[in-house]
Amino acid sequence: MDKINSQNIQHVAIIMDGNGRWAEKKELHRSQGHKKGLDNILPIVEELIEQKIKYVTLFAFSTENNKRPYEEKKNLINLLDDSLDNINKKIDDNNINLTFIGNLSSLPKKITSKIQKISQKNKCASSVKLIIAWNYSGRSDILNAIRRIKTKQNITEKELESYLMTHNTPDPDLIIRTGNQIRISNFMLWQSAYSELYFSKKLWPEFTKKDLNNAILEFEKRKRNYGNV
Ligand code: FPP
Repeated sequence: MDKINSQNIQHVAIIMDGNGRWAEKKELHRSQGHKKGLDNILPIVEELIEQKIKYVTLFAFSTENNKRPYEEKKNLINLLDDSLDNINKKIDDNNINLTFIGNLSSLPKKITSKIQKISQKNKCASSVKLIIAWNYSGRSDILNAIRRIKTKQNITEKELESYLMTHNTPDPDLIIRTGNQIRISNFMLWQSAYSELYFSKKLWPEFTKKDLNNAILEFEKRKRNYGNV
């Protein structure tokens, strides 16, 4: 088997797609697919820590997901709420700094308070910065940045980046999407300009550490020339 060499990767971002189809395949309710998807986050993050990846962003809920039925949205928000209660020990054991990007204003106050509190943990000495994209839209992020800087002249790329929600995070080196869909779905539109993209046929609940390592091995084989030769 090829040896993994993840030293060229600082940031891995994952579009966790396929929870619903996983549930349908097993004749379960979609909510059970999301629960199974949630349960798959920690093992994958632990493997990313093992691979010494410093930044991990997980696309958990897009702004467009608001079009889903009320019950499904409520279920996802409840899963988020429960996981914020249960994850404290894991965060400390693994020395994770957990933060969020996206528009959190529609979440109940009790959840945003938990997010604020948890994001203070391991802020300085984290082994990994784990970023959950929630109610996130790449276009909105760019649009909000432009609205805030509109009076400035001759804005540079670096300056615009400093207004994005990801301002303190390097661009993703590798973006993985599970669920056999070949699209970006409004995720990190600015930041993905030179990301390597990896699409897995596996549905997110069945995406394993081995699948992740296959994605990293594939990344290592790619030649990144950023437009150069
Ligand atoms: C896409 O699958 C997945 C989502 C919209 C939600 C992702 C959420 C989790 C992995 C669990 C919850 C996470 C947190 C942080 C609370 P889909 O429902 O679009 O699947 P489908 O395309 O098969 O229908």
